[in-house]
Amino acid sequence: PTVRLEDYRLSDHLIDRVELDVRLDPHDTRVTATLALRPNPAGRAAAPLVLDGDDLTLLALECDGQAVAPDAYRADASGLTLHRPPQRPFTLRIETRLDPTANTKLMGLYRSSGVYCTQCEADGFRRITYFLDRPDVLAVYTTRIEADRDSAPVLLGNGNPVEAGDVPGTGRHYAVWHDPLPKPAYLFALVGGRLDRVAKSFTTMEGRAVEIAVYVEPGKGDRAAYALDAVERSMAWDETAFGRAYDLDVFNVVAVSDFNMGAMENKGLNIFNDKFVLASPETATDADYAAIEAIIAHEYFHNWSGNRVTCRDWFQLCLKEGLTVFRDQEFSSDMRSRAVHRIAEVRNLRARQFVEDAGPLAHPVRPKQYAEINNFYTATVYEKGAEIVRMLRTLIGEPAFRAGMDRYFADNDGTAATVEDFLSAFEAVTGRDLSSFAEWYERPGTPRVAVSGTYDPAARTYRLAFRQTRPGAGADAPPLVIPVRVGLVGAEGPLDGATSGRVEAGVFVLEAAEDALTFENVADEPVPSPFRGFSAPVRVESPLDAAARLTLLRHDPDSFNRWEAAQRVALGLMAAQARGEASEDAGADAFVAALDAFLDTEALRDPAFAAQILTLPGEGELADEIGTDTDPDAIFSARQALRRRLGAGLRERLTRLRETLAEPAGAAFSPDAASAGRRALRNAALDLIAAADAEAGTALAQAQIEAATNMTDRLAGLATLALLPGEAREAALTAFAGRYADEPLVLDKWFAIQAMIPEDGTVTRIRRLQTHPAFAMTNPNRVRSLIGSFSLANPTQFNRPDGAGFDLLAEAVLAIDGANPQLAARLMTAFGPWRRLEPGRRAAAESVLRRIVATPALSRDVTDIATRSLAG
Ligand code: ARG
Ligand code: ZN
Repeated sequence: PTVRLEDYRLSDHLIDRVELDVRLDPHDTRVTATLALRPNPAGRAAAPLVLDGDDLTLLALECDGQAVAPDAYRADASGLTLHRPPQRPFTLRIETRLDPTANTKLMGLYRSSGVYCTQCEADGFRRITYFLDRPDVLAVYTTRIEADRDSAPVLLGNGNPVEAGDVPGTGRHYAVWHDPLPKPAYLFALVGGRLDRVAKSFTTMEGRAVEIAVYVEPGKGDRAAYALDAVERSMAWDETAFGRAYDLDVFNVVAVSDFNMGAMENKGLNIFNDKFVLASPETATDADYAAIEAIIAHEYFHNWSGNRVTCRDWFQLCLKEGLTVFRDQEFSSDMRSRAVHRIAEVRNLRARQFVEDAGPLAHPVRPKQYAEINNFYTATVYEKGAEIVRMLRTLIGEPAFRAGMDRYFADNDGTAATVEDFLSAFEAVTGRDLSSFAEWYERPGTPRVAVSGTYDPAARTYRLAFRQTRPGAGADAPPLVIPVRVGLVGAEGPLDGATSGRVEAGVFVLEAAEDALTFENVADEPVPSPFRGFSAPVRVESPLDAAARLTLLRHDPDSFNRWEAAQRVALGLMAAQARGEASEDAGADAFVAALDAFLDTEALRDPAFAAQILTLPGEGELADEIGTDTDPDAIFSARQALRRRLGAGLRERLTRLRETLAEPAGAAFSPDAASAGRRALRNAALDLIAAADAEAGTALAQAQIEAATNMTDRLAGLATLALLPGEAREAALTAFAGRYADEPLVLDKWFAIQAMIPEDGTVTRIRRLQTHPAFAMTNPNRVRSLIGSFSLANPTQFNRPDGAGFDLLAEAVLAIDGANPQLAARLMTAFGPWRRLEPGRRAAAESVLRRIVATPALSRDVTDIATRSLAG
């Protein structure tokens, strides 16, 4: 059943208040919902009341205190219809039962390692009780939770705690929670279990005392300190950066070990995948710390962008997700290095969103239809959605952007809004017409912008021409509004004297299909630097040669474009080699020399940035650059060759850098950005040295593992060894598994590293690991570590010409689908880029996809991804 944006209709009924009484039991949980309903004056008159349900068993139904006659309603597992509901406000009392232990979908109310928890977005609340499970029905909730006191001493709900006590003579106890702010059902949550608590208080700018608490598995409280601190920093930041204060007396975060996604922003009770809460130097890498900080912030920021202002319907998902990703990216940029963070954002965008946008699963940031909404929590909705918000800020400037955000929150607080409501807040404060800009939400595909320059030495002018095109867009498609942050760079540095009347505060706005800028007062032929800071999510086509790009690496005042210049040169070298074009030795030499010069002056000034410069574009990006008929083996070899070349050419400097950057013995670990940056550069150097010299790489990696005082260095050593076949690798893997036998989240890293080994034996190794006692097909983190890493980050083995990699993924998908369709569908997305493969592999992928679609009893989730993958 396809749901279409154009079919949106207001609900015929509204729910003002919800009282829930949830009596938790492992297999027989009873839920009594008392709903204060009324006809929606804006809906259809005398409409039946149609409540959503999923896997529910109805036990009792009363309307205004009277049992409802059997012929007055129809109820089954998937819904409850009251044929002729009262034409005035009325109260429905619905008693249902459910089995949380049998809930393997991890949607609705389920148990994770014995802890009762919930996930209701997008449509899980209907698995708890019959309801108008749509985001534009907002109600005030009071929840009474009752459970066995021994197995569930902690009982948490949305809002503020009201009351708690024992149920005498039963061994059970209860807690009542009240959430004063109206919310849609997808923000409902409850938790019951045995959990440790760490807490601190925070006073908001409005003077409200808030108790912040993080709940984790017993004994792991010390690993929650970083997350707790991140909540506090997020609260403070949202006050300063956006004027948004928290609005309840408590803010709770709970970590659970079985969770389909990263985390969930339930009102006052965020529930997290424990991978994004738990951290200690011994178990978490710098990347883990950064991800925890970002996701804690993301979920907290949803309190305003998502909860106070929610979405009218699921087509508006980017309204909360794109905006909230933008906000968490800004937060991380302020907490860390803005330039380095921007590079990480763009790497991620290109690796996931550009690939999605170029393949059969491409969709607009605001989709027009869906068969399964849970398949639209995508890089396009999230990451491209965030880029749209960032472009808006670039277009109107920071002060107007902040004013527009204030206006958006003020105008839409307590309501379910649309993308139009968002844009109109900015139109109101700027007086601008943003209707052309809105086109960014409407069409899939990554735009291309061709940039070319002409220098006129006599007139001392430089003309920079832009031409935008969109893949698959018809001739009628209006051009996009594209902010181009731009400048010129000369052989000796930025050309500040050169100006153009159409560049305002460094930004040129490309609004037509073609346009050009003229810079005056240009003394020498310059190198153009367009799309500074990646000012728009486009592919830039520019005829610049490597020498010109290396000038940007040296002199561009914009760090992003310095990095971009190095990436483009590397991509050019690798793509030529992968396509079998004559290998360009001189080009590689010039690149090595440029990197050497760069490291000489800057490696120690900004190690994190230097590490980014030394990290070549990945195989996926190279495949994306080549575009069609790709051969993953040729791509892998080309990348290996360049890594080897850099490692050999920079060997001495990299070795010295590693020594200079070594942590002094006994230094305490700190996850801050500067320390992490030093580790990143040391480990980028290790990677290149090992690429050039396996023997030296092995010795260095072994020594690093031996001496490691933190997971970042230990894992980097192991990752280096993983690429070097031999006994040292196997011994290190065995030792690592022994050391962390009781640490599931660390074993995930061990699974992932092995899944990514780019060698023939990997499929066999993975099949063996699937029988490892620590592996479980029922745990999303385990599955993503082993199967997800393989299919997304091991291109040569996943795309094996014999199809064995595709088969492995297909088997896992089908094995998981019956229990957890969302997880299975997520895995399926790895097939997305299948059409760009060379014909042999393409045929192998297609036949596996066809086999999957033909499987009986396939979930809607997997069917949707598989059929779209084949159709696109
Ligand atoms: N709103 C959550 C977040 O981005 C994601 C929840 C998605 N869950 C799902 N089952 N689709 O923070
Ligand atoms: Zn989100």
